[in-house]
Amino acid sequence: MTLDITTTASDSPRSESEVAEILANPGFGTYFTDHMFTLEWTPGEGWHGGRITKYGPLSLDPATAVLHYAQETFEGMKAYRHADGSIWTFRPEENAKRMTRSSHRLAFPVLEPDDFVQAVDELVQVDQRWVPEGAGEKSLYIRPFMIASEAFLGVRPAQHVTFMVIASPAGAYFKGGVKPLTLWLTEDYTRAGRGGMGAAKTGGNYASSLVAQQEATANGCDQVVFLDVAEGKYVEELGGMNMYFVYADGHVVTPETGTILEGITRSAIIELAQKKGHQVEERKFSIDEWREGVASGDITEVFACGTAAVVTPVGTLKWDGGEVSGKATDDAGPLTMEIRRDLVDIQYGRADDAFGWMHRVC
Ligand code: PLP
Ligand code: COI
Repeated sequence: MTLDITTTASDSPRSESEVAEILANPGFGTYFTDHMFTLEWTPGEGWHGGRITKYGPLSLDPATAVLHYAQETFEGMKAYRHADGSIWTFRPEENAKRMTRSSHRLAFPVLEPDDFVQAVDELVQVDQRWVPEGAGEKSLYIRPFMIASEAFLGVRPAQHVTFMVIASPAGAYFKGGVKPLTLWLTEDYTRAGRGGMGAAKTGGNYASSLVAQQEATANGCDQVVFLDVAEGKYVEELGGMNMYFVYADGHVVTPETGTILEGITRSAIIELAQKKGHQVEERKFSIDEWREGVASGDITEVFACGTAAVVTPVGTLKWDGGEVSGKATDDAGPLTMEIRRDLVDIQYGRADDAFGWMHRVC
């Protein structure tokens, strides 16, 4: 415990019946808990003013730097309620360390990982009644974020920075449940180049993905796949998920890190798959390997993963002028579902936490 945090309870929390109604059908990212966490930074004072207060709108000067130059980073993580009522987060120190890496890229001051975890823990403790029962894979989605809060229009790192944590009860990210996604391969847009921000979790990457996502939707697809910028040849990731390819001989390939987001689910899956005896390759993976592997049957399963999406099967890949569908087009493949189950069983406390991934909040 290194941060000094004051808590002022909301004077208008949701009633128990309102919370129960929301938790029965939370959707994703629509409802927010009663409180939020705020911490500020200035060069003179460092990080200070840690507080949990009533959830509500921010008042920002129109010249606030983040509104103009997008100096911001964020994280996405979840709190899970176990059968005994206890509440746990999954590898929160990994989110904290990733925010540190994103902060370096975005020229932000570093928030110590312990302070990040403490802030998340204390908000979740205060709003613990918002963590749904685990049935139906519900959870409390937690969104820590950092913004340039200085009112100044010059282009330089902000001298006033605000770190906040908000939380939102969540059901499945995809409305249709666990059914294979259809992906759109964009050949017009890229997400990140060498020296760019691809590995940082920063709003600009998501802003740049939206037009490509629109293209995907217009072509009847669920999500968009991005290729590398240098050669337009290697698979990177989806707008908010990493990718996995399962071969008939049992080995598994995931695109190497560098310009993609270093997913915490992705790294957990490497360990889960290896423990099951699968060889895992982190390497460049070309779009031709995908097309040809699925068409020939060498690739038997494709799936995407992330905190919000968990593990989601991929059925068909479409592009301008063609498409390819694998074996597991209507139903998820067996390894996809096994890995998914292994992961959620650990997260919800139904399986032994052999990797030491879970962190008890309360
Ligand atoms: N890739 C992108 C672009 C993402 O936004 C996310 C989600 O956070 C992921 C991958 C998966 O990362 P994680 O497993 O840490 O949620
Ligand atoms: C997450 O999985 O936590 C993300 O931030 C991805 C976003 C698409 C919701």
